[in-house]
Amino acid sequence: MDREQHDRFSVLLHWLMAALLIAQLGLGLWMIELPKDNTGARAWWFNVHKSMGMLLGMLILLRVCWAVVRPRVVPLDMPRGKQLLACGSHRLMYVLMLVAPLSGFLGSVFSPYPIRFFGARLPRLAEPWEGAKEVLSVVHLWAVYSLLFLVALHLIAFVHHQFILKDNLIRRMR
Ligand code: HEM
Ligand code: HEM
Repeated sequence: MDREQHDRFSVLLHWLMAALLIAQLGLGLWMIELPKDNTGARAWWFNVHKSMGMLLGMLILLRVCWAVVRPRVVPLDMPRGKQLLACGSHRLMYVLMLVAPLSGFLGSVFSPYPIRFFGARLPRLAEPWEGAKEVLSVVHLWAVYSLLFLVALHLIAFVHHQFILKDNLIRRMR
């Protein structure tokens, strides 16, 4: 039977990933401005970003698998057009949450720098390839900016429901 609220595991993944993703987006935008000096600060923050990004990549794989098998929720009581818009933007966020870590990871595979996962150095999967690295950097950039845009729309929709329509939308994700 369809339910009014998302299941506990979806709620946990939603809030955990929301916090980590917002931190990761902020970190990414901040770290690229760090100077290329000899202090090692830039490399250190890039390694934090890569580790967090790979962790997020694993979490989103788990979330996608769970989204396929989890119990369904009833759609919100609103016009069909709005329902399609909400469903479409949620699906697009899922796609971007996959493309962002994947493009970041593959780009780093083709860069000359080693990849570390919270300190542990991963084996080299491919030889450095500047052309591929450049293309994947552009894909990463577009994926993260598109995700940022959709998250902003998601927040506007949330505020609209919660405070203007006053339909207590947040109860579905609690
Ligand atoms: C990076 C940040 C976020 C992402 C990527 C995100 C993504 C999503 C996705 C994909 C869904 C669909 C349900 C699911 O499959 O889990 C959803 C539902 C929801 N989100 Fe977010 N979310 C984010 C942040 C937030 C924030 C900050 C709020 C509110 C303050 C919020 C409120 C909600 C609510 C209330 C729902 C339920 C909507 C419904 O059942 O129709 N989200 N979110
Ligand atoms: C959900 C996961 C991720 C998010 C939201 C994210 C977000 C960002 C943002 C906002 C930037 C700055 C804008 C830009 O120049 O592209 C950035 C840059 C970067 N990210 Fe990520 N990232 C994620 C995962 C990863 C992963 C898994 C890796 C590598 C293992 C990675 C490696 C990089 C690198 C090397 C840069 C510097 C610019 C470049 O060379 O492309 N990211 N990321």
